[in-house]
Amino acid sequence: MIKRIGLLTSGGDCQALNATMRGVVKALATMLNEHELEVYGFDDGYKGLIYGKYRMLTSRDFSGILTQGGTIIGTSRQPFKLMRVPDENGLDKVEAMKQTYYKLCLDCLVILGGNGTQKTANLLREEGLNVIHLPKTIDNDIYGTDMTFGFQSAVNIAVNAIDAIHSTAASHGRVFIVEIMGHKVGSLTLESGIAGGADIILIPEIPYDTKKVIEAIEKRAKAGKRFTILAVAEGAISKEDAKLSKKEYKEKLIERAKKYPSVSYEIADKITKKTGQEVRITVPGHTQRGGEPCAYDRVLSTRLGAGAAEAIMEEDYGCMIAIINGKIKRVPLTECAGKLKTVSPKDQTVKAAKMIGISFGD
Ligand code: F6P
Repeated sequence: MIKRIGLLTSGGDCQALNATMRGVVKALATMLNEHELEVYGFDDGYKGLIYGKYRMLTSRDFSGILTQGGTIIGTSRQPFKLMRVPDENGLDKVEAMKQTYYKLCLDCLVILGGNGTQKTANLLREEGLNVIHLPKTIDNDIYGTDMTFGFQSAVNIAVNAIDAIHSTAASHGRVFIVEIMGHKVGSLTLESGIAGGADIILIPEIPYDTKKVIEAIEKRAKAGKRFTILAVAEGAISKEDAKLSKKEYKEKLIERAKKYPSVSYEIADKITKKTGQEVRITVPGHTQRGGEPCAYDRVLSTRLGAGAAEAIMEEDYGCMIAIINGKIKRVPLTECAGKLKTVSPKDQTVKAAKMIGISFGD
């Protein structure tokens, strides 16, 4: 019996996408004879599925890619909210995806991606397709799994950035901000801030008070510390902005973008105005998604990939392959799609950070 599998990677890339696909295909290949497995890789995520752009992949394509960053089949952002909106030529994207699936007689689509990707995977499940979702993102914000692949690799890169800042900050006696990705969630900043020895950590889940941030900087200066390092999440938000409605905050962000490239520049400006201190900003940006996966991610990806292969063999679809308390589990998409995992301000990690004197500006 032939298994026909479609593979796609969607949304922002991250480390270990290739390692995860390799895990799926290698595990399937050991359970099936060579002629029993057909793998189709869709170009650039859902785009390939919509427009019928794909290529057949063989086990050779998955050899030597464990350590390779990016994705061998490409990715693109196809917003979930536009999936039901016809394209510029009037094409019904959902119908087009179903047609490609049925034309290739697929048994299952294995979909690697973040929250938006997962929502579209769930939509396809509702439309009757067999799907399996694998949780990818450096943000670690997918509800239902303790960890996403890409996250630990990104933490390592962000920590390297903070480590490098430490020596220069010490020689000049300056305030430094390292801005860390994570979209609306602070996990990446929290972990890298702690691991990098940041003095102040600002995350979206704990709105900051500028006065408290400045107090923390001044307290360090009074204690004879020559520098302060802030790890600031790209989505960090002040207490006053947190009181705004969604619409008002969106408008505020549009206004802010005219003056500052990102939140860190706004915070730096406030610090300089109030203290006269020099503030320097480092934005590692997309380097956090680049390069090879760390050892942790290689293992996680292999386990998640093998978990997906097992589910395919058992024809158990409509789920995300997750890691929960160290075990690989299948979480129904009905339970996780559309939910965001955020950092709880009461989290033990936050508590430990506060106990050692890290300020969250709250
Ligand atoms: O979701 C991953 C992520 O890197 C976020 O941390 C960040 O906000 C976003 O993607 C950046 O997206 P893009 O690559 O489209 O600029």
